[in-house]
Amino acid sequence: MKVMVVGGGGREHAIVKKIKENPAVTELYVLPGNGGIAQDAICVDIGAKDIDGIVAFAKEKAIDFAIVAPDDPLVLGAVDALEAVGISCFGPNRNAAILEGSKVFSKNLMKKYQIPTAAYAVFDHAADALAYLETAPIPTVIKADGLALGKGVIIAETREQAKEAVHTIMEDKIFGASGDQIVIEEFLTGPEVSVLAFTDGKTVVPMVSSMDHKRALDGDQGLNTGGMGTIAPNPYYTEAIAAECMEKIFLPTMHAMNAEGRTFKGCLYFGLMLTADGPKVIEYNCRFGDPETQVVLPLLESDLLTIMQQIAAGTLAEAEVAFSKKSACCVILASEGYPGKYETGYEITLPADTSRIFVAGAKVKDGKLLSGGGRVLGVTEVADTLAEAVEKAYETVKTVHFANAYYRKDIGKKALAAEV
Ligand code: AMP
Ligand code: GLY
Repeated sequence: MKVMVVGGGGREHAIVKKIKENPAVTELYVLPGNGGIAQDAICVDIGAKDIDGIVAFAKEKAIDFAIVAPDDPLVLGAVDALEAVGISCFGPNRNAAILEGSKVFSKNLMKKYQIPTAAYAVFDHAADALAYLETAPIPTVIKADGLALGKGVIIAETREQAKEAVHTIMEDKIFGASGDQIVIEEFLTGPEVSVLAFTDGKTVVPMVSSMDHKRALDGDQGLNTGGMGTIAPNPYYTEAIAAECMEKIFLPTMHAMNAEGRTFKGCLYFGLMLTADGPKVIEYNCRFGDPETQVVLPLLESDLLTIMQQIAAGTLAEAEVAFSKKSACCVILASEGYPGKYETGYEITLPADTSRIFVAGAKVKDGKLLSGGGRVLGVTEVADTLAEAVEKAYETVKTVHFANAYYRKDIGKKALAAEV
């Protein structure tokens, strides 16, 4: 069976390693992949946003199954384009990917179907937003409507910062057309939980919960990043909370999308905040999280490719989806300076066992693996307890080297504090 994965980060590397466990996979291509993924699959130099190029490649190779992992191609309609030429896919269609592609859409959907989320207002004009901010409660949260490389959310601690955010998003257009509309929403507090869920529009099967660490520096200081590390399961996410989320959030979201004629199939990511008033949705993503995937998939005991094929066939209800009772921790090694300016091109040395090293940004030059991105790689370890998984991950981190490596020293600390 010929399988193609679209994307090229640590998440895709984790998907590739898991997919390879299925012996039916005879050829595995990744578009564009990266120097680390090239150890496990054939990387093809076609960008994840090059929809025409992706479809042409899939046709040329007679790909049997395609997995579209990142948000950009999903929102651009990669799945629709592949399905139009008869290729079976894992991932939502464009009309469902809007759940991540437009925050205005997702907020309005939650309001219409009474799915718990922060109170909000939508603005099309900077002047109206600025007027609203004169009396809005502070802190407040300003969100660009469209995709913004994970940077489109600004938590404003003061009225001035909030107004500044409106100017930069709506007038300076730092996120381009993604900032044509903005959402201003209520600032919520509480532990955050990521829940990735398989769904085919009829059934929703949540995966093991996880916790991301989005800020660049220890103690949740510094700038927001794509994620500096993850742990799973998330100890704040108890069975009672999971049941409440299923009833009030997961099933209602699936039904809401069906009712809107936008059936969602693929991985639906729920970014949740456990507030004093119960769990609320902070964001939806239309895909696997990065680096959540790097802790969730190593705990999946069932065959990922089979589940993905069952979702494509609309038979998720028959799928076997079992997770190990163990814990996992992923520590991201980034280039010093990320998410700001950083240098790449430094040689990476890895331990002998790279089975749980997921490469996010690297290239191969003269047979050497060189750093090639802000996030360079993630080191995941699995153990019986979270404390052991964290300890093992940091032990393995010591065996990975490149010149300007930077990583947080406190991944899992908050979760461990919640356990006792
Ligand atoms: P996002 O890019 O949507 O994942 O948002 C980035 C981060 O901003 C989230 O992980 C939260 O920590 C924070 N955030 C987003 N919305 C809110 C909110 N309404 N209240 C408090 N924090 C928020
Ligand atoms: N780790 C957050 C995300 O994938 O959006």
